[in-house]
Amino acid sequence: MKGILLAGGSGTRLHPMTLAASKQLLPVYDKPMVYYPASTLMLAGIRDIMVISTPADLPQFRRLLRDGAHLGLRIAYAEQPTPDGIAQAFLIARDWIGGSPCALALGDNLIHADHLSVSLRAAAARPEGATVFAYQVRDPERYGVVSFDEAGRAVEIVEKPAAPLSNWAVTGLYFYDHHVVDIASSIKPSARGELEITDLNRVYLESNRLHVERLSRGCAWLDAGTPDSLLQAATFVQTIQSRTGMLVGCPEEVAFRMKYIDADALRDQARHLGKTDLGRALLELAEGEHE
Ligand code: G1P
Repeated sequence: MKGILLAGGSGTRLHPMTLAASKQLLPVYDKPMVYYPASTLMLAGIRDIMVISTPADLPQFRRLLRDGAHLGLRIAYAEQPTPDGIAQAFLIARDWIGGSPCALALGDNLIHADHLSVSLRAAAARPEGATVFAYQVRDPERYGVVSFDEAGRAVEIVEKPAAPLSNWAVTGLYFYDHHVVDIASSIKPSARGELEITDLNRVYLESNRLHVERLSRGCAWLDAGTPDSLLQAATFVQTIQSRTGMLVGCPEEVAFRMKYIDADALRDQARHLGKTDLGRALLELAEGEHE
């Protein structure tokens, strides 16, 4: 399975911070925002990743993530010239996807949960259909919202409904089978002029091929698209890391734990980070001081 990291858009809700910088490269505590969804894709076992961003921002992502070899990945890059919707990513990446199944992670979404990699790998291994993750929020009208029948089956999925039928938001992490490019080609722009990921998901839902996995209350799903949620995400990461000494959303750590890179390569990466706490934590991991 391949994976798209979508880091486009103009981040208007974070102006003026995003007037001269990409939203998805802003810091979330001690790492650039995009590290968190990158780690999520890696935990799903995905090693072929395409970063899609604006023509202005793409060079910065290249500078940060390079060809991915230092993380045991193959990273490709493509431009989304105008913010025409999340589902457009599959059209941009059509040739690169080449008929494979493909996941997509939004560059401003952070998921932290116990046993997350088990659910992610199950989603990546599902041969037919699509998998999305739903999470209970207080403000569902900001998101794609999925509602369920009494038997717990997903019945409806609506983008930013004024009167949400449930408080289950669809998170920005999607897994699709090899039909995704054809389905993305068939959907039409919405009233706001975008190819909506929710419309793509609805096609899967209406043919009974949408698997909705509900994240339990022990999970944390955060997006970092507004000043408040950016600060919340940063304090969340800082709290977990400083309390436990374990890292959240660190691609170098995930690469090592997934055996994409060995201890020598991890040590190299740690040295690049200089005298930061993150660099020290990675060195300790390479030396086997932590399980
Ligand atoms: C997008 C999707 C929405 C999803 C959300 C998750 O919203 O359109 O369905 O729930 O991401 O972060 P946007 O960030 O474009 O407002």
